[in-house]
Amino acid sequence: MTAPREQWRSQFGFLLAAVGSAIGLGNIWRFSYLAHEHGGGAFLIPYLVALLTAGIPLLILEFAIGHERIGSAPLAYAKLNRRWEWLGWWAVTFVMFGIVLYYSVVIAWCLNFFVLSFDLGWGDDPNAYFFQTFLDVSDSPAALGEIRTPILAALVVVWAVSWAVVWRGVQRGIELANRILMPTLLVLTIVLVGWALTLDGAAEGLRAYVTPDFTKLGNPQVWIDAYSQIFFTLSLGFGIMIAYASYLPEKANLTGNAYLTAFINSGYSLFAGVGVFAVLGFMAQSEGKPIAEVVSQSIGLAFVAYPRAISLMPGGNLFGAVFFLCLVVAGLSSAISIMEAFVSALVDKFGFRRKPLVTLISVLGFLGSIVFTTRAGLLWLDIVDHFVTHYGLVVVGILECFVVGWLFRLPQLRAHINRVSRFSLGPWWDWLIKFFVPLVLIVILVGDLYRELREPYGGYSWTALILIGRDWLLITLAAAFVLACRPWRTTQMTTAGRSEAR
Ligand code: ALA
Repeated sequence: MTAPREQWRSQFGFLLAAVGSAIGLGNIWRFSYLAHEHGGGAFLIPYLVALLTAGIPLLILEFAIGHERIGSAPLAYAKLNRRWEWLGWWAVTFVMFGIVLYYSVVIAWCLNFFVLSFDLGWGDDPNAYFFQTFLDVSDSPAALGEIRTPILAALVVVWAVSWAVVWRGVQRGIELANRILMPTLLVLTIVLVGWALTLDGAAEGLRAYVTPDFTKLGNPQVWIDAYSQIFFTLSLGFGIMIAYASYLPEKANLTGNAYLTAFINSGYSLFAGVGVFAVLGFMAQSEGKPIAEVVSQSIGLAFVAYPRAISLMPGGNLFGAVFFLCLVVAGLSSAISIMEAFVSALVDKFGFRRKPLVTLISVLGFLGSIVFTTRAGLLWLDIVDHFVTHYGLVVVGILECFVVGWLFRLPQLRAHINRVSRFSLGPWWDWLIKFFVPLVLIVILVGDLYRELREPYGGYSWTALILIGRDWLLITLAAAFVLACRPWRTTQMTTAGRSEAR
């Protein structure tokens, strides 16, 4: 038995949801940190090159297979080639039981910092506060230590909100939530950036942001980081964009929506970067340091450097509250999309009813997140994030190009895209998907592996990296094979794709 597929109320609703998934924690602190580390304005060059040559072509591809095959990631892959169903399961499984488990904990930190902002609760030394008092980070990943109660309490809120939204379904849950969250985020960000620009020293910060240090462009790591950032920020390889596009009606402007999603997402990052750099300029001036020395670690940008700046500025507590609220809102809309990608896959294959399924998955997800709220949570987060984003997402991207580009008739998919979209794609797109994108991703993968084998990531022990990082991916891979081998309990597999149905 197959229930009718849910649909977005409008294409605008779909666009907001796709933008909501793309704009997340990564846009605010990760992008700004990378720009800061990799030569300010010069980083925008590899970033834009990565967006145009890999980000947009892959986003179109993910929208297209979800829409043309009318399915979540496992269903869409199974309908392209039955032997590759596991790839869809792997993506949605390591994203659901990997990324979202720690992602929700980072949102929980932001929620705590939102509350702390009102009375500048991090005191005079935000660095000591964050690492020693708030996280109380243990010495090694093996020393889990106790659960940090304030983080756990906020985590309950994060999962409860995600549960409530996904539980209500595509239109009344996800679409409605994004109709509220996205405009809220935009207004909050405009307030924040406008405010940041009035601070003393903001101009100095902006100068650092837009003045390129071209010498950095010769470093391959800058390019690798730019491509990885585009991948993460557009939620590519997560299975999300495939599921979201499967809820579109027959006539859907796939290319137009992909361009809009990508440009709004990157535009948001660039805009948020203005605010972040203005604040860094303010800090540099207040503390009499050069901008380069204000931030030392990526995680430190949001939870150490910002609190320091907030404590220094007039009316900082309100500024802090708005900043952390932005992170919470941006993070929630992405967390919701991750959960939906997994839910939609299980509904497609096993015909489960959405509501009890979402409740079960939320409880499991919450329980799985708890390990990241322990004293070793930051260390676990760092390792899992490194493996899942550097290997999981990149391998999915390479295989995605291989399955669609080489095993499926790519011109047929392009013909579908051009039939339903306002902007047509030329053969250049086939070329990018078949050769260029997989090649770039393979170079990134090899570069990462080379560095990995030369020295253990982050100075952790090999045992920790293998047991927590590599095995996390392998266990989700095994789960993906098991799920792919189960028989289909719905008739979804036998319904034709849109091209065949014609
Ligand atoms: N695309 C989401 C982010 O950037 C996952 O945070």
